[in-house]
Amino acid sequence: MHFSTLLIEPPGIDSQLLQLMLGPEKFRVRTSECGLKAWNTILTDDVPDLVVMDADLPQQGELQITALQLLEMMNNQAQWSNIPKIILASNSNPSILKISSVASVNAIILKPYDPRRFIQEVYTSLKQHIESHIAEVNRQHIQLGTAFQELIQLSDQSRFNDLKSFFTQLSHMIEKHFDFEEHFMARHNYPDFIDHHDNHKKLLTMVESMKVEMAKSDKAITAERIVKLRTDLFEDVNDDKQYIKFLSSLRSSLVG
Ligand SMILES: [Fe+2]
Ligand SMILES: [Fe+2]
Repeated sequence: MHFSTLLIEPPGIDSQLLQLMLGPEKFRVRTSECGLKAWNTILTDDVPDLVVMDADLPQQGELQITALQLLEMMNNQAQWSNIPKIILASNSNPSILKISSVASVNAIILKPYDPRRFIQEVYTSLKQHIESHIAEVNRQHIQLGTAFQELIQLSDQSRFNDLKSFFTQLSHMIEKHFDFEEHFMARHNYPDFIDHHDNHKKLLTMVESMKVEMAKSDKAITAERIVKLRTDLFEDVNDDKQYIKFLSSLRSSLVG
């Protein structure tokens, strides 16, 4: 298992040293040597697990894209905004205060830096990132459970119009939840990703057909159908335990 890392650093001894520290057994490193190349990478490449960026980027021709501009650009893209970022900077960098206030910056390490401190920050940032993903998955499961309870209550009270609109909200919630899990699964090469994705797809088909039925008929769907959907969805939540286990072992691999 590798953590993909985007290293934004001019070529030279620092870049070589950083790549050496990250080590090929745990990290797969892509490099961008200047702001402009990094800008293209952000627009076109897959999202990495971690960004390591030198705040003192060299000027490329007439066009200079600064580290701060790159951070702002990453923050404007949902997929890039919440991945951990570690910034290496010289004390004299005029943007250092602004950079430190960017929410997704996990650490600023001043040059010259201690290699052990650097690798420790990398591990800590990745661990926190995995932990916050697990916490968010759990939070969304609880939220889905509560939404189903409300839906069943509306059905019991024969409040069909409310039930229809609440079911639409729930369907968006389910879609977003599956998306959230799948992006992370794909990025971390979760071994059961294909099966899990297929199961999500089946559930979404079920949700969609219930929505169509509700739109066509005056009557809402029965409580039994809602309970059946809940049971199937919570089987998926049960399968998610395997995924959480996988993430926990990924987290535990970050020692050294
Ligand atoms: Fe889930
Ligand atoms: Fe799932």
